[in-house]
Amino acid sequence: LAAPRATGALAGRHVLITSGPTHEPIDPVRYIANRSSGKQGHAIAAAAAAAGARVTLVSGPVSLPDPPGVTVVHVETARQMLAAAEAALPADIAVFAAAVADWRTADAAGQKMKKDGSGTPALALVENPDILATIARLPAGRRPGLVVGFAAETENVIAYATAKRARKGCDWIVANDVSQSGEVPGGVMGGDSNAVYLVAAEGVEHWPMAAKSEVARRLVARIVEAVGPIAQE
Ligand code: CTP
Ligand code: CA
Repeated sequence: LAAPRATGALAGRHVLITSGPTHEPIDPVRYIANRSSGKQGHAIAAAAAAAGARVTLVSGPVSLPDPPGVTVVHVETARQMLAAAEAALPADIAVFAAAVADWRTADAAGQKMKKDGSGTPALALVENPDILATIARLPAGRRPGLVVGFAAETENVIAYATAKRARKGCDWIVANDVSQSGEVPGGVMGGDSNAVYLVAAEGVEHWPMAAKSEVARRLVARIVEAVGPIAQE
């Protein structure tokens, strides 16, 4: 029996999504990470699946369940996230919602570091690969047709996001002002709502504060508008 054909506006499309933080080990018990709950990225994965897409979600460590109907690849570090994203290609659409650690330790200790009285340790850091920029700059054919990045900023949100879009080579940037309060103490980060700007070549749209699930549905609706349905054979 043939598998039932998916229905929905993204039926036949493969969507790659990164979500959550990455953890970069310092030693076996300590790590460097960004604040990220994964709620926004996981909500986008769920919304894309609900629209009929085949979805690969590459997730850093989060305390969320795997969204139903989504293939989830669990990773820890930025380098693992890049490898998993590359392995998931080809994709028609890629959305990079993860809060990737910009740096990792040059050399993680093999054993737990101890307070041995010789002073505080110095951490030597090296830059992590930029997953979004790596995939956005793939040659045509290998590059997903629509590449969407995120930007978390605390000031000059539109200006920084516009510059980031050009620097990374992506089509859209979904920018949020993480200095805003959101709905819960602690704000947008970890909260359930988000206010964003969608920065595209055509201009900037402001989407007012809404539930992350609603922001996800709206983003997927814009993706559907941008890519259109697959032509029927
Ligand atoms: N990103 C990525 N890999 C990295 C760093 C960032 O894929 N090593 C992606 C994020 O998932 C996001 C976008 O790039 O979609 C922007 O992330 P952000 O941290 O805002 O940008 P940076 O280029 O790291 O700049 P900065 O942190 O200095 O503002
Ligand atoms: Ca960063």
